Amino acid sequence: MRALAVAPADRAVRILEDFPPPGPPARNQVRLRMLEVGICGTDREIAAFEYGTPPDGSPYLVLGHESLAEVVEVDTACPTLRPGNLAVIMVRRPCPHAECTACRAGRQDFCYTGDFTERGIKGRHGFMTEFVVDDCDYIVPVPDELRPVGVLLEPLTIAEKALLQLWQVQQRLPWACPVEPGQSPQYCHRAVVIGAGPVGLLGTLVLVQAGFQTFVYSREPAPNPKSKLVEAVGATYISSRTTDVAGLADRVGNIDVVYEAAGASRVAFDVIRVLGTNGVFIFTGVPGRKAPTPVDTDLIMRDLVLKNQVVFGTVNAGRDAYEAAVRDLQQFMARWPAVVQGLITGRYPLDRAPELITGRPQGIKNVIQIAKD
Ligand code: BGC
Ligand code: ZN
Repeated sequence: MRALAVAPADRAVRILEDFPPPGPPARNQVRLRMLEVGICGTDREIAAFEYGTPPDGSPYLVLGHESLAEVVEVDTACPTLRPGNLAVIMVRRPCPHAECTACRAGRQDFCYTGDFTERGIKGRHGFMTEFVVDDCDYIVPVPDELRPVGVLLEPLTIAEKALLQLWQVQQRLPWACPVEPGQSPQYCHRAVVIGAGPVGLLGTLVLVQAGFQTFVYSREPAPNPKSKLVEAVGATYISSRTTDVAGLADRVGNIDVVYEAAGASRVAFDVIRVLGTNGVFIFTGVPGRKAPTPVDTDLIMRDLVLKNQVVFGTVNAGRDAYEAAVRDLQQFMARWPAVVQGLITGRYPLDRAPELITGRPQGIKNVIQIAKD
């Protein structure tokens, strides 16, 4: 069967015509037919040979970790899945070490040892191929109505895991956004999202949905296609070309949360200077290594202490975040269907994958369509 592979030794990104198809599902396994696979910055880095590791003994790595698939065959030991179900496949698999309490608890997204594997990224083939088999523990069912946008679920889990942790941190401020009796909790706070790529825009939807007054801080001058999506959900787009970080802070007021989704450390450490009192700064980007840049460490450290600030980074996601993503994506589709569909700016056949992954990034989320129906 066909697959898109990266071969680091010959610095090649190519379509394999005869990648061996997986066998039938063994005990506790599921066979899936791949429908769509999203392309992200991580794929581009792997295709530039800066990141990623093929499975042991393989000269190449099949790319792709943002999946939407259809279940075709299920072992009887898998209780909830049925052939015909749509599904998204989780990315990370646990490390083998007995002492890794995170992996032993099924929370490999918090793996201590670093010996985890990730499908399509580190030590395991990914999803840019026709069929895959995996354990049913890693399959998350997706309602049929999410067929047009379900490929956004995996990148959405990044924001969901961040929000789950943010909730935990902000329990220290129980009086800040009072909850009416009988209502579910909603933040009343102000959030700044850095970056208007797919991770930033999905983070924006999550924050708006959670009740934040949300501002997106990104390079491109407005109006542009991304600023229009931002405004359509009631958030505010601010271009860093026209407004510097001090101006951003003036516009927003107390910045309660920063959701960094640009992967650029310079702008992040510029914005951290204006993080508000009791504020939380969340990093999700993985910057490439460039020359060191000067940072005013005294100012940042003073504010961290004197303003009760919290900084955390977050990677990958557990099943709780996948389930939250499924629920939220349904709500986003009810509230802003055109915006959610507008995040997917291109669908291409597998043949186009090499140029899309190695060429100049265009649009918002580009998707490889493996099967049409
Ligand atoms: C993926 C995560 C993964 C991370 C680091 C991201 O693009 O969405 O699942 O953990 O890359 O490899
Ligand atoms: Zn990704």
